[in-house]
Amino acid sequence: MALGRLIHIGVDLVLVSTALAGIRQATGLKFRPESLTDSKNLQSYIDSYLAIGEKTVGLATYQMTNNPNYFSRKISPNMSLSLRLASRNLTRSSLRVPARIPARTFATQRYQQQQQQHQSSGNSKQFKMPRTTKAGPGAGVLGAIALGAVAGWYFYSNETTPSWKKVNYNSVYKDIAGLLEDEDYDDGSYGPVFVRLAWHASGTYDKKTRTGGSDGGTIRHPAEAGHGANNGLEHARDRLEPLKKQYPNISYADLYTLAGVVAVQELGGPTVRWRPGREDKTEADCTPDGRLPDASQGADHVRDIFYRMGFNDQEIAALVGAHALGRCHTSRSGFEGPWNASPTSFTNFFYTELLNNTWVPKKWNGPFQYVDKQSGQFMMLPADMAFKKDSEFRKYVEKYAADQDAFFEDFAKAFAKLLELGVKFPEDAPVYEFKTLE
Ligand code: HEM
Repeated sequence: MALGRLIHIGVDLVLVSTALAGIRQATGLKFRPESLTDSKNLQSYIDSYLAIGEKTVGLATYQMTNNPNYFSRKISPNMSLSLRLASRNLTRSSLRVPARIPARTFATQRYQQQQQQHQSSGNSKQFKMPRTTKAGPGAGVLGAIALGAVAGWYFYSNETTPSWKKVNYNSVYKDIAGLLEDEDYDDGSYGPVFVRLAWHASGTYDKKTRTGGSDGGTIRHPAEAGHGANNGLEHARDRLEPLKKQYPNISYADLYTLAGVVAVQELGGPTVRWRPGREDKTEADCTPDGRLPDASQGADHVRDIFYRMGFNDQEIAALVGAHALGRCHTSRSGFEGPWNASPTSFTNFFYTELLNNTWVPKKWNGPFQYVDKQSGQFMMLPADMAFKKDSEFRKYVEKYAADQDAFFEDFAKAFAKLLELGVKFPEDAPVYEFKTLE
């Protein structure tokens, strides 16, 4: 840190000196050291300091002059000869190029002569471009300044660049995707529990008080992780933790929401637009318990919860289609079973199963839930059944059961909205549309 500051100050001094040299060149106005001090010693130090700027301008001018690919000069007929001479002399003096021989031309001529000799003598050895000038002690000073400037810029920009900008999100996406499959976990994929983590991290939003939501990543704190609705999400958090170590600049809030996006996409769902820039907050920002839906209730409760976040009926119906993924665990929610036969594929099966099956109460000692009458293998929560019973919700259920593309399109929009609730993104945060892995 201290070294970074020191280099930063050094670079600033060089820049000031360079600016003064530029002004001197353009206007002839030169800073007078004697206006600051009577001490001859100090005056000579100031002179040496100003000389650094002169050398830097000289070097820059020389490089620009000799790089016609990148710079061209349009000399106006009005430009005075003395100004042109002054600029050329300045370049020469700082580089110690012999007067009157343009360095590039001189070197090029010699190179061409040598090549002609080489070709006529049949020598097969390669010729190297001869050095244009002999590097004097000035070159060393310039090199050091240039190096200092680069190092200073590096430290300076590293200190001032916000953390979220230092992350390669395409790379994080790939690494999350690499964590999805695991034969020993559940149905063979962490995808469903990643989606649930992203949703529970975001679904605490309250539009009235503008509290909660994914910003803050507060779901990682025991005060929020411990809410009954969040049981089992430690499996997702623990799985993602090594990536937080690997990418220390990504916030938990970004990591958890991005994991939801990766899971939806990699399990065959739609592309979900995602932005980085969420910041992590402390335990003090955890939301109170009770903001996530209670699966044992019906349509009114579901509406209360989702309207509080700012969703309408169509968006709610689209979001719940994520129940095509994963399963319920007695050890987590008390409920049991998957919603369909392909819990690791993102499909519109939640709607088709809901409409096409006859759902009967499960006979068991656990909480009230439904199973399909035919096989008894698949389940529906009481809250899921509300989407079949409520006529307004049912309209969308029928639409999405008949048209998977329409479901994918609406889900992608609603899910992206969910992950952004309450987040104040930096103005320059880019929107990512990640490509799925092959
Ligand atoms: C009506 C509102 C909702 C209720 C009442 C509800 C309830 C539940 C319950 C009780 C579970 C089982 C948890 C377990 O035992 O592991 C579950 C799982 C799941 N929920 Fe929801 N949920 C709702 C909305 C959503 C939404 C909006 C999404 C995503 C957009 C979602 C995604 C999931 C996923 C992917 C799983 C499976 C997790 C796994 O396999 O580990 N849910 N949900």
